[in-house]
Order: sequence, then structure tokens, then C-alpha cells
Amino acid sequence: MIRVVCPGSFDPVTNGHMDIITRAARLHDEVIVAVLRNVAKSSLFTADERVGMLREVTKDYANVRVAKFDGLIVDFCRAHDVSAIVKGLRAVSDFDYEMQMAQMNYAQAGVETLFMTTNPLYAFLSSSLVKEFASYGGDVASLVPEPVLRRLTERLARD
Ligand code: PNS
Repeated sequence: MIRVVCPGSFDPVTNGHMDIITRAARLHDEVIVAVLRNVAKSSLFTADERVGMLREVTKDYANVRVAKFDGLIVDFCRAHDVSAIVKGLRAVSDFDYEMQMAQMNYAQAGVETLFMTTNPLYAFLSSSLVKEFASYGGDVASLVPEPVLRRLTERLARD
């Protein structure tokens, strides 16, 4: 039984995240999407809202579940018997930091990290860019799942 984790802030989940989650779910027995509840980092959506959106957009994936976490991802991996962390790599700019985190997690806890190359369709995509573009009235309908687009539009209209 190979259980992997896709960790992130997911503020909000994008089509780029969905691409990685979908492909990870095809390759492994179980995928846990772990949502970081980071009180130090300001977010547009609360951790519960982010979890709710992820549950909605992964509801048809039989081997994907969504959880919240605090603290170190390696502690989450130990507690949930996770074999590896799966991350998407968009560009060379992602590489340095991702490599550092992967090596730290392996050196300190023996937790492996598997990198998947991002689908070129989503290579430019990040939650931050989606939020910025949408906040100035840009059309992000092709960049996020439909339920996320709805919530993003509501949230930005309110703020
Ligand atoms: O979507 P993000 O914000 O790029 O995700 C980053 C995340 C949550 C995967 C990373 O910051 C993380 O694993 N944070 C948990 C804290 C931790 O384990 N830090 C040490 C990494 S070596």
C-alpha cells in the first residue's frame, strides 16, 4: 500500500494543483492532500474553506482524501504512515527551494520527495497569481475548478 501526500497552502486550489493530484492518484494507492494551516501567513481563505473546496473538487476521486495540518510535514507523514511527499515542479525557479526542502525532509526524517513535472499548460500558474489577476477583474475561469471560481468571485466582491 503506497500512500503519498500532496502538501500545500492551496489558497485556493488551482488547475495546476489538480493536475498533480490527479496524476499522483493514478500512480499511488492513496493520496492525502494536506492543507497547511499557517497562522503566520495571511490567506484569502481559511484552512477550513480551503479543505472544503478541495473536498468538493476531489469528491469523485476514490483514493484521494483531504486533511489539514500544522507544523512539520514530516511529522504528518509519520503520523499517517505516508511513504513520500509528491510535489509539482513548474520551472527552474521552483527547483532550489524544493530541493532544499526535499533534502531537509530526507536528512532529518528519512521522508522521500517525488517531483512531477507540471503540465506545460499550467507552468505559469500559482495561487498568488490567480488571486492577483482576479482581484483586478481578470478572467481566471480557465485556471481554477468551477466551484473555486465561484467562491473566489464571491470573496473578492465582499472584500
Ligand atoms: O503551497 P505552498 O505554500 O508552496 O506549500 C508549501 C508547503 C506547505 C508544502 C511547505 O511550506 C511545508 O511543507 N510546510 C510545512 C512546514 C515544514 O515542514 N517545513 C519544513 C520544510 S523542510
